[in-house]
Amino acid sequence: MNDPHETGVSLRTRRWYGGMSRDHYIHRSWMKRGLPDDAFSGKPMIGICNSASDLTPCNQHLDDLAEHVKRGVWEAGGVPLEFPVTSLGETQIQPTAMLLRNLMAMDVEESLRGNPLDGVVLLSGCDKTTPAMLMGAASVDLPAIMLTGGPMLTGRHHGKPLGSATDMWRMSEEVRAGTMTPEAFVATESSMTRSAGHCNPMGTASTMATMAEALGMTLPQSASIPAPDTRRRRLAHLTGRRIVEMVGEDLRPSRILTIDAFENAIRVLSAIGGSTNAVIHLLAIAGRVGVPLTLDDIDRIGSQLPLLVDIEPSGTRLMEDFFEAGGLPALLYELDPIMRGDALTVSGVPIRACWEECRTSDPSMIRPLDDPLLPSAGIAVLRGNLCPNGAVVKPSAASPELLVHTGPAFVFGSIEEFKERIDDPDLEVTADSVLVLRGCGPRGYPGMPEVGNMPLPAKLLRLGVRDMVRISDARMSGTAFGTTVLHVAPESAAGGPLADVQTGDLITLDVPGRSLTLHVSDEELGNRRSRRQPDPPVAWRGWTRLYIDHVLQADRGCDLDFLVGCSGADVTRESH
Ligand code: FES
Repeated sequence: MNDPHETGVSLRTRRWYGGMSRDHYIHRSWMKRGLPDDAFSGKPMIGICNSASDLTPCNQHLDDLAEHVKRGVWEAGGVPLEFPVTSLGETQIQPTAMLLRNLMAMDVEESLRGNPLDGVVLLSGCDKTTPAMLMGAASVDLPAIMLTGGPMLTGRHHGKPLGSATDMWRMSEEVRAGTMTPEAFVATESSMTRSAGHCNPMGTASTMATMAEALGMTLPQSASIPAPDTRRRRLAHLTGRRIVEMVGEDLRPSRILTIDAFENAIRVLSAIGGSTNAVIHLLAIAGRVGVPLTLDDIDRIGSQLPLLVDIEPSGTRLMEDFFEAGGLPALLYELDPIMRGDALTVSGVPIRACWEECRTSDPSMIRPLDDPLLPSAGIAVLRGNLCPNGAVVKPSAASPELLVHTGPAFVFGSIEEFKERIDDPDLEVTADSVLVLRGCGPRGYPGMPEVGNMPLPAKLLRLGVRDMVRISDARMSGTAFGTTVLHVAPESAAGGPLADVQTGDLITLDVPGRSLTLHVSDEELGNRRSRRQPDPPVAWRGWTRLYIDHVLQADRGCDLDFLVGCSGADVTRESH
């Protein structure tokens, strides 16, 4: 591996520290604070971009990992400089963390560009922190490596494993069905979150950690080593060492985040039964590096692939089991015939190198391609007069008997209206009804919350119904499940046809045929459109105003239109 002291790579931070002028004096003098003089004479300055926060429970332990990254950086001859960035706690922040993903990405981007850094380690964990960091780093294109915080240990209650969130969704429906008491439900609360780390099913955090590894942006096994396992500290140490070498190799995200890397990630997404949120995040990250990835590519590359990993919510087990079975490298070995093995990784070698010596220790957890858990389980993209620019559905988390279904719509104009009415015993719904929720897209909510897995009507739950077709312009938690059509684009607030559906209209979902059809004539839809009333403004100032004015629709990754692309790392003007 290359030592930046010997490779002749011109360090970016020489601009701050490599001279005798007043400005160089200012930069060095204020930064020294105990650092020896030779820290400023050609050693790589390595940022540790840390999203630890007490308000982001899944990332609280990242400070500990940062210390181990620092050891590796010092050991390799670099100077570690840790700094905080915006952090987003999925379960805490309102109205939804997604409203702020792009704000965090901007924070990461500007922090990297404006500061004296030659390379960066990105410490993330919770759902939005991983894509936001990858988006920001991609738009600066300094050498960058990610280390995710790792999943929680498997929670247990009365001897039974509890998947964070996935089992919560399940139990909360049992309470509403009357088959579990609220006291028994709440009693599981402490058992579910057993250790540091992010959610332990293949929810959005685990999916995005796995996407980062599949894209080549982490060292092998970053996604699955449990958060409290000391092997994660070792990985942090190695990550610190490796970023110093990457600076010497001038190995930047633009060399790693290629179309081959995205194709690999999409194939892995299918094999793990990953979160539908990954579709939005992958499109946004690709947009930052100029890779022309589209919603149709997600379907073309991934939808026919099988589910190979037995993990919630598509399967039965959790991330700790995935790690014990060999983690992503063992899965990649099984996927070898369909992978782009030459894609470069942060390790400086093609991704194929990480799986060549790897075999699963548990073939029931990581299955071979010819003996999958489910065939053709990848995320499907639907088209039709209800979603002209697309919508997604995750067949592996849906009920097979509902993948082709026609039923009458029952429409809710907002999530508040939904919550108010869904348990009304007189609600005129049957198991065949199609629940439609609008006003929950990127602009309409704003921020596109995870409410697409609408709880079922209590009166149907009591009759034993456990799934129905649901359609919305919202997202769904990666830990959730059900026959839910999500990300309808354009959203209702952007003029999409979802705004014109009326209770009683017939809708046909045909996942094998990739269609979503509203059985209303074009003429009638035109009439309804002409009668629409404009929505009242949701925000008149601040970030929310900026977001509403510039956010792209779900089929384009929900980035802000002016953030697409890369501005590089150059800063052309001095501050004094
Ligand atoms: Fe943070 Fe699930 S809430 S990862």
